[in-house]
Amino acid sequence: MFNIDRRHFIAALGGSATIATLSAEAKADALENYLIAGVGEGGGGATPKPAPTSAEVNAEIPTRPYRRGVGNLFVAKEGNVTALQPMPPKPTLTDFIRLRFQSTSEHCLQSANLARKKNLDEELTFACLIHDLVLSVMHTDHGFWAAQMFEPYVSEKVAFAIRHHATLRFFPDHEAGYEYPDLYRTMFGSDYVVPPHQQAEYEWVRKHKWYMAPRLVTVNDLYSFDKNAKVSLDDFHDVIGRHFKQPKEGLGFDGSPVAHMWRTAANPDLPL
Ligand SMILES: [Fe+2]
Ligand SMILES: [Fe+2]
Repeated sequence: MFNIDRRHFIAALGGSATIATLSAEAKADALENYLIAGVGEGGGGATPKPAPTSAEVNAEIPTRPYRRGVGNLFVAKEGNVTALQPMPPKPTLTDFIRLRFQSTSEHCLQSANLARKKNLDEELTFACLIHDLVLSVMHTDHGFWAAQMFEPYVSEKVAFAIRHHATLRFFPDHEAGYEYPDLYRTMFGSDYVVPPHQQAEYEWVRKHKWYMAPRLVTVNDLYSFDKNAKVSLDDFHDVIGRHFKQPKEGLGFDGSPVAHMWRTAANPDLPL
């Protein structure tokens, strides 16, 4: 069982005013991100803590029985993991969202809903809808994992948007309305510096003709929650139909180079 330093958690999310705007599911997602960030354990003090340094973040590593990059399907928020419902024989993206990606689907749905309200291009609205689903499988380098997993089934631009959104999260773009997230100071450390390969990725993407595709995913990302928005996956059925090439054999069984990634998400309890 995790001990949460409530005030630290609230500060990490951007304060109580921000939290007041979150739906119950969004709060659960935020709590999960906070726990997975590994910053909430061992707290309990009444004084809000300043964001840790990178060295302090790293010093916490050997205090946990899991690594921070682990996918949500593979570690319980608290206590034990639960038995998963069986997948249908020819699973669709919707089946995965409902049965395996629940921990991150609310965040993705809220992001897509916001994008739709802003009349974002439907292709990019779809990118928002899928941008973080891979967090159920892997957190580390999740933009690249997401793009690889989805690439055979989506447009080149959608793959580009989800591949690079994760790195663009570290780089503000005031003109586009994107600021560096406060939560990252807590997750990565107040003095965190992105590694050179990610800096280079950013500089390359910044000059790319499709820069705004991943940028708009970040603009509609964290804190995009609206407690009054009742977002249902059914509302995006048509968008998925138009932008996701569902393999007739089912995801995981189409012989694609990434089929094993879908099978892994379907069967995270297989020991080998
Ligand atoms: Fe992300
Ligand atoms: Fe996100």
